[in-house]
Amino acid sequence: MQVARFRTLPSLPPGAFCVYYVHLRDESCAMSQKEPVISLKEVVKSFGGRVVLNGVTFDVQPGQTVVVMGGSGCGKSTLLRMIIGSFRPDSGSIRLWGHEVTAMEEPQLNDIRRKFGILFQSGALFNSMTVAENLALPLQEHTTLDPNTIDIMVKIKLELVGLREHADKYPSQISGGMKKRAGLARALALDPQILFYDEPSAGLDPVTSAEIDQLMVDLSKKLGVTSMVVTHEMDSAFTIADRMVMLDKGRVLAVESREWFEQVRDSTGELDEDMALIRQFLRGDAQGPITQRKLTTNYAEDLLGGPGPPPDHGPSVVATR
Ligand SMILES: Nc1ncnc2c1ncn2[C@@H]1O[C@H](COP(=O)(O)OP(=O)(O)OP(=O)(O)O)[C@@H](O)[C@H]1O
Ligand SMILES: [Mg+2]
Repeated sequence: MQVARFRTLPSLPPGAFCVYYVHLRDESCAMSQKEPVISLKEVVKSFGGRVVLNGVTFDVQPGQTVVVMGGSGCGKSTLLRMIIGSFRPDSGSIRLWGHEVTAMEEPQLNDIRRKFGILFQSGALFNSMTVAENLALPLQEHTTLDPNTIDIMVKIKLELVGLREHADKYPSQISGGMKKRAGLARALALDPQILFYDEPSAGLDPVTSAEIDQLMVDLSKKLGVTSMVVTHEMDSAFTIADRMVMLDKGRVLAVESREWFEQVRDSTGELDEDMALIRQFLRGDAQGPITQRKLTTNYAEDLLGGPGPPPDHGPSVVATR
């Protein structure tokens, strides 16, 4: 059953001055506070025999913003895609509101997908449609609302992300940051209960990136949306996160509060290898276990696809004369 709720938004993004936000919520999804919204248990995924995720386990509680971090290629986007049901894991359990996603067929997946919004890296807008038309599309496809109501819903969402004056522009006529905001407005179109973001601030200048962070915090706090955010931007991660997950080589190194990660980042002195790795990642240090691991990779082995001779630190070009 869809229930209309009116909520006051005390502070809004720059340029916004709407007072009421109409929140359509599917009451059938109302859940107890004790049950996690997202629950992953021992999730394993391989591509072509190479294990990308190896026993990933963590929960996300309602209303939390969880940031997933890890080096490039460690499986963050793959994890998101499995949670939204685009890929199936080889083994393990993925539950959304207690429902096993890995056991769902396409119609069930489509039903559950209406309850979450996804912001892709590019914003993923249709170039042949205006910003407003891009936002109206999911409402036309997934609801029976009449065109006037859809028009109002679109305006509310655009106001929410500070883009109402740009409703009639095409994606090619707006900046990268505005595309991100338009993508976020579209992700909000169906009043999702979970928002998934993959690298929301990648490629943005620091001010625009901070604006997007603020928007994510506002949405999470004021609408009570649960969010899972993949990001490499540590400033952004520490601004938006309630909890953080650190992945490395397919395994979870830590799932802890933001404060815990702040303490690791600011720590001095000796740490064991996993903790030192987390600290290096959080600080972006040039020295540490991550760089050490890269240096010890055998170049010959890499080139020839098998074990090669031990690294030779002599000159790579030898004079023959
Ligand atoms: N559909 C696919 N088929 C084959 N391999 C894939 C596929 N999707 C991802 N991979 C591989 O899985 C690994 C993890 O990819 P993924 O995109 O999840 O990494 P990531 O952590 O999101 O990296 P980045 O930070 O660069 O976005 C990579 O080695 C990638 O090549
Ligand atoms: Mg990725």
